[in-house]
Amino acid sequence: MIKLWSTFFVVTLLTCFVANNVAEQCSLSAKGSPNFPANFSFGVATAAYQIEGGWNADGKGPSIWDDFTHSDPEKIRDKSNGDIAADSYHRFEQDLQALKELKVNHYRFSIAWSRIYPTGDISSRNQKAIDYYNHVIDKLIANGIKPMVTMFHYDLPSEIQKIGGFTNSLLINQFVVYAIELFENYGDRVKTWITFNEPYDYCHNGYGDATYPPQVYAPGVADYLCIDNTLKAHAAAYRSYQSRFAKTQGGKVGITLDSRYFFSKTNDEDVIDRAMQYNLGLLAHPIFSKTGGYPDVMIMDIGANSQKEGRIRSRLPSFKGKWRDIVKGSADFLGLNYYSSRYIKPASKPNGVSPSWERDFNCDASIDPKWLRAASDWLYCVPEGLEGILKFIRDEYDNVEVIITENGWSDDGTGLIDDDRIRYLKSHLQAVLNAINDGCNVRGYTTWSLIDNFEWLRGYTEKFGLYAVNMSSPNRERTAKKSAGYYREVIQKRQIPSLF
Ligand SMILES: *[C@@H]1O[C@H](CO)[C@@H](O)[C@H](O)[C@H]1NC(C)=O
Ligand SMILES: *[C@@H]1O[C@H](CO)[C@@H](O)[C@H](O)[C@H]1NC(C)=O
Repeated sequence: MIKLWSTFFVVTLLTCFVANNVAEQCSLSAKGSPNFPANFSFGVATAAYQIEGGWNADGKGPSIWDDFTHSDPEKIRDKSNGDIAADSYHRFEQDLQALKELKVNHYRFSIAWSRIYPTGDISSRNQKAIDYYNHVIDKLIANGIKPMVTMFHYDLPSEIQKIGGFTNSLLINQFVVYAIELFENYGDRVKTWITFNEPYDYCHNGYGDATYPPQVYAPGVADYLCIDNTLKAHAAAYRSYQSRFAKTQGGKVGITLDSRYFFSKTNDEDVIDRAMQYNLGLLAHPIFSKTGGYPDVMIMDIGANSQKEGRIRSRLPSFKGKWRDIVKGSADFLGLNYYSSRYIKPASKPNGVSPSWERDFNCDASIDPKWLRAASDWLYCVPEGLEGILKFIRDEYDNVEVIITENGWSDDGTGLIDDDRIRYLKSHLQAVLNAINDGCNVRGYTTWSLIDNFEWLRGYTEKFGLYAVNMSSPNRERTAKKSAGYYREVIQKRQIPSLF
């Protein structure tokens, strides 16, 4: 009996200790005003391939993610795909219900290029798809929710990949034609446009290490080419909007970039800046810096490495002629996807294969074992990093307008009590508020994600939703998790409620 009681006592103590520790790890103290600005916009995000299903409905053409999940199912952790997913293509009303419950100010979703143009080309224009998104946009507006539209979120039309996808500069004009189609059809109601989502990821994984479709293995070469064509396609679409639509439609066009923030155990500012340039700067510097072009540190390193490898030109393309100026300043806001951070130091031995982004970067990343980890093995709760990256953007890019377009937490989805997601949400909202109080020009925050969805290589094993989706029911019912109630309270009060 005594033994039992003492065991109980120790277990209770331990539990308290662990619980306290968790709260401390994933929290951030407040600095300044507790209120978000009155016009600050709160929203949630999704992406077409991850939720829509209807992969061949109403004339939709295949995308590289349809091809990949069909031909290589073993590369997805649970061998699943997005054929049906949360079936949002047929069940948008259920998503709308959740959006209304949350009382979000905006909803970020993506349009599937291969629905609008099944072959990627204007000749295949599909009116049923145009109608579908018109319906979505109308319903959002009717309910006071601003649509925030991503034009491209990983799902490249397969036919465009057949001619090289992002490594063929033909993509620039193909994307502009598609973008103009969207501006013409939806620009009367959509005022916030995001051209591309996370170019670093689809370029590095799709054309570098070949872990994503189209599985082109050409690290340090085709990934940089993909980034170069992405920047040009983005800028060309932005310039088209400015010359043909901005005056009458009055919207904003930006791009969504993802980056971690970096810390140094030795307070080495140079290595932090190097890491920021190789991650955020690779895409942000050409658009948002005063000088334009790629970060100097990358131009120098990759030029030198290329020479050592016996090449006559750098693997990092240089903007020739007028492109540097077309890309520079080609965005009304920076969309930021922030999830986590790392410690960084100069590499102790050469990283990755030669050539590769990893070899060029030449740094070692690590984590703090005290950081709380999500179900995803790369995702640690580091709210200080969000505050840090927002201040970096403020100082580096002339305090450009920022919309946080993704930020979220994964778990394995057992049960609806998702306290760790609430901790993550609370601490990251605090980071945003601290940054605003410190003069950062942040205009909106978007949680990833509205509903549980297809998490790329992890299939349905890692859940990010504020709402659970019953994947074994043909109706795919959405059920609010505890975090949905917490976020609704944030939006109503425009403050950060205390925990539990
Ligand atoms: C929000 O209000 C601030 C302060 O009044 C203003 O400077 C800013 O332009 C507004 N932002 C938006 C997105 O309307
Ligand atoms: C999911 O749907 C199935 C089939 O309709 C049902 O049997 C099950 O109880 C549902 N699960 C949950 C958690 O609601």
